[in-house]
Parts: sequence; C-alpha cells; structure tokens
Amino acid sequence: MYPFNSSRSYIRNAWYMAAWGQEISRRPFERIIMDEPIVFYRKETGEPVAMFGLCPHRTHPLMDGRLIGDDIMCPYHGFTYSPQGACVRIPAQDSLPRNFRQRIYPLIERGGAIWIWMGRAEQADPALMPALAEIGMGVSGWKTVDNGLTSIKARWSLVIDNVMDLSHVGFLHLKTIEAPAAGDTTPLDEADERIRCIRMMTDQSADMPYARQAFPENVEPLDIEIGSIFHGPGLIVTFLRFHTAASRGPRRLLGVSNHLQGVTPASPHATHDFSGIVRNVRLDSDEFDDWLRTAVIKTREEDVEALEKIEPLVDRYANARSELSGVGDVSAIRVRRQLAALLAQEEAA
Ligand code: FES
Ligand SMILES: [Fe+2]
Repeated sequence: MYPFNSSRSYIRNAWYMAAWGQEISRRPFERIIMDEPIVFYRKETGEPVAMFGLCPHRTHPLMDGRLIGDDIMCPYHGFTYSPQGACVRIPAQDSLPRNFRQRIYPLIERGGAIWIWMGRAEQADPALMPALAEIGMGVSGWKTVDNGLTSIKARWSLVIDNVMDLSHVGFLHLKTIEAPAAGDTTPLDEADERIRCIRMMTDQSADMPYARQAFPENVEPLDIEIGSIFHGPGLIVTFLRFHTAASRGPRRLLGVSNHLQGVTPASPHATHDFSGIVRNVRLDSDEFDDWLRTAVIKTREEDVEALEKIEPLVDRYANARSELSGVGDVSAIRVRRQLAALLAQEEAA
C-alpha cells in the first residue's frame, strides 16, 4: 500500500494514543483501532481496561454491556468477562471454558492520555513510550490543552507526511496561521535519535496572530522556529518556538508551543488524529486556550480536506519511487524509510 512496499497495513509494535483520559469512564465505550473494535472502561480503582469489543458468544458489541464491579457483561445473553479477559459467567451454566481468553490490550495512562499497544501483549515495552516529558506533557510550568480528535478518511502515512512537512503552513494554512514564510524558508533537516525538520522564520511581525496571542505586550519582531519531530509512528510533535530577533541582538528563546499529533490508524484508509497543545507561555490565559483550540480546529479542517482529496488517488496514481520531492521533503522521506523498516521487521517476525 502506498507509499510502502509491504503487505502489512500497520506497524503494531508501538504505543498509540487510544483516547484522552477523560473519554474513558465507568461507561464502556468503543473505538476502532487498526480495524479492531475495542471496548474501553475503567475498573473501580480507575485503572483503564481495553478488551476486544465483540462478544465471543454471538458477536454483540460489548460497548453496550454493563459493568459489574470490574467485569463487563454482554447485554445479549449475559456472558461476562473479567479485565484479564477470562469468561467468568455464562448464565445457567456452572462450568466455564477455563482456557478461554478474550483479548486484552496493554495500556499506559500518561500525560492525560491512554496509550495502547496493538502488537503481541508480551512484547509491550513501556521503554518504547514516546518521551512525553520532552514535549512538556505532565511537566510543571507547561500546560496541555486537549483538543480532542479528528477522524480523517485518509491512511495514517498521509497524516504523517502532512505533519512532517510544514511548508504547507505557508500555503494550505495561509489564511488561518498567516505565516507565509513557512512555505518559503529552507528547512534544516536534522536527525540524532529523532528525525526533525525545522524552519527558522526570521523577523516575523509581532502582529502574526499566533505571536500576538502568545506575547500580547510584544511589539518587536520575532524569530519563529516552526518544525516537526518524529517520536515514532504514533506521535509527531510539531512546534513553534518564539525567539527575540537575531537582527536586534543575541537571540533569546521566549516560549514554546508544542502541538502533539497522535496518529492512530483506524483502518487501512482512515486515521484517528489526536490533537493537543502543550505550551509554556501564558499558562493561565483562557483566551489563549480558546484561540488555540479554534486555530487548531480550523487548520485541521484544511488538512483534512486536502488529505481526503489525496487518499482515493494515491493507490491508483502515485508511485513513491517516482514522485517529485524537494529539499523540504528530506525529513519526511527519512521518516518513511524508518516506517518501511519497521513494517519489514514486523513482516519478517
Ligand atoms: S452475544 Fe454476548 S452473550 Fe450472547
Ligand atoms: Fe496542516
């Protein structure tokens, strides 16, 4: 499937955002991830549970079920499953299928979000969790604004392409972000342990709407870095870093706004795109929170429109080997290579 040469649709051995913490409660709820219906709920202690979401008896969705303590009871004939996936009750029957196991997915709750492991449970490795503290998630002096999720009818790799190449901010989001320089600045492609693509837009007007919101008192021009960092198939962080302008004296970092993009495959042609903003400026401004939410929603609509136009075309018309790429695509191509290697690794295993 474009742009990869793999029979696999997904990279399973990674942590993906499954939900924002507040989406999961004592009321079972379903989300489809990698084409698998998964039911989520919380145990009485608050610990989240993720279980394959269809009853193994006659396939009724368990999201309509009822919680009895920490167990979930199917609404159709009352079969009941424990959070470990055991069938613990079949009405009017004393003996239970002892080796029966409903699939349970490993979860980690961190940074206000629930992260799921879609590979084999015994391979779930907490050390592979994205470095959330690096982004400021859950760190004091930073604030996370949860911005929900967008369902995009486009494959996950197109969503990753979109966020790894922010030159589109200068075109697709010209009216919403008003940063034409993003499209006209040559990026610095860097890769140490992470692949990153950064553009330094120098001498930007203090009146650029984002800068005006972040620093309402400021009248001086700013140097603004805009970039993306690849944290793994499930998380890309895009960011704006605001600096004093080097043209006026030594450059000084004033503040950072990280945009978290949780990219979770829903199916081969659809993606859950979780969005959150983690910033260390104007933490107590509700006005800035609202402005960010609105701006992100508007720009995301623009992205969705473009991605949903592209999705039905790529399998027929695009060829990753012959498509035209520019210098701005270097990081996105590095990311594709890494993703291709992960797909190949899982295929070989
Ligand atoms: S379908 Fe769930 S108990 Fe029968
Ligand atoms: Fe965008």
